[in-house]
Amino acid sequence: MTEDKSPVLVEFDSGIAFVTLNRPEKRNAMNPALNIRMLEVLDELEGDERCGVLVLRGAGESWSAGMDLKEYFRDNDDKPRDVTLKARRQSGNWWGRLMYFEKPTIAMVNGWCFGGAFTPLVSCDLAIAAEEANFGLSEINWGILPGGNVTRAVAEVMRHRDALYYIMTGELFGGRKAAEMGLVNEAVPLAELESRVRKICASLLEKNPVTLKAAKDTYKRVRNLPWDLADDYIYAKLEQMLFLDKTKGRDEGLKQFLDDKTYQPGLGAYKR
Ligand code: ACO
Repeated sequence: MTEDKSPVLVEFDSGIAFVTLNRPEKRNAMNPALNIRMLEVLDELEGDERCGVLVLRGAGESWSAGMDLKEYFRDNDDKPRDVTLKARRQSGNWWGRLMYFEKPTIAMVNGWCFGGAFTPLVSCDLAIAAEEANFGLSEINWGILPGGNVTRAVAEVMRHRDALYYIMTGELFGGRKAAEMGLVNEAVPLAELESRVRKICASLLEKNPVTLKAAKDTYKRVRNLPWDLADDYIYAKLEQMLFLDKTKGRDEGLKQFLDDKTYQPGLGAYKR
């Protein structure tokens, strides 16, 4: 079998789309080709019924070594500004799409995670890391500050002191520390990483997908709104969700609990 040289691989299994950053020889550093392909992949998966949950992982022993320091940075240094801006948009575009992707997203951090990789990491709804994974805001080590919205992503999930400590020192930290600081949901031994992620996927796949999309978007958007606007937004989103859900999941959930007595919402999802 010939080796697949595509910078991004997509495989489907049991409702999960495993999206693999596939430049293991470059520690899955994000070059322009990978960024362009990721945007296409997200477009393709948005309407693909085989994708109920998207899991983003890295080939080999890395999740991603951040931006490609050669192809993204140095090779563009002498090019006109519009070329640099285009490359910048290509990465930002797929990270932005990931943040509000139609399906639930999980970053499955199997190894190295540096710099620019923090933005897609935080853009995923959930993140589960291997205890053995290593993270670093290494920008400071080569003379830049965390751009590509990494600084904003870090501010979103990490505590103030932790964020500044790692932005300023560039020190490595492991999966457990990442979990303790809130950068990932939890850390498990590498040998258990995929099975843990599959278990979370199974739980998400039981839920109503229209509700899931509305719930995650609402949380992400209302955090930065004042209370009165948040309240209004939440109700608008709720009513939009009821309109979009042709399966009438809310009514079905109430029926199965109140009339049929076949399940208890406190203990699990209604049967779809
Ligand atoms: N950009 C471009 N090439 C990279 C990157 C990167 N971010 N990371 C690794 N590579 C390349 C190396 O240049 C090397 O290429 P070569 O085989 O052609 O010489 C190959 O990948 C393997 O790299 P090694 O350093 O030999 O791999 P090792 O497993 O020993 O170390 C590690 C892995 C720690 C990830 C190391 O490669 C590294 O420090 N990479 C840079 C990490 C980083 O700071 N990224 C930038 C963050 S800032 C930002 O994203 C804006």
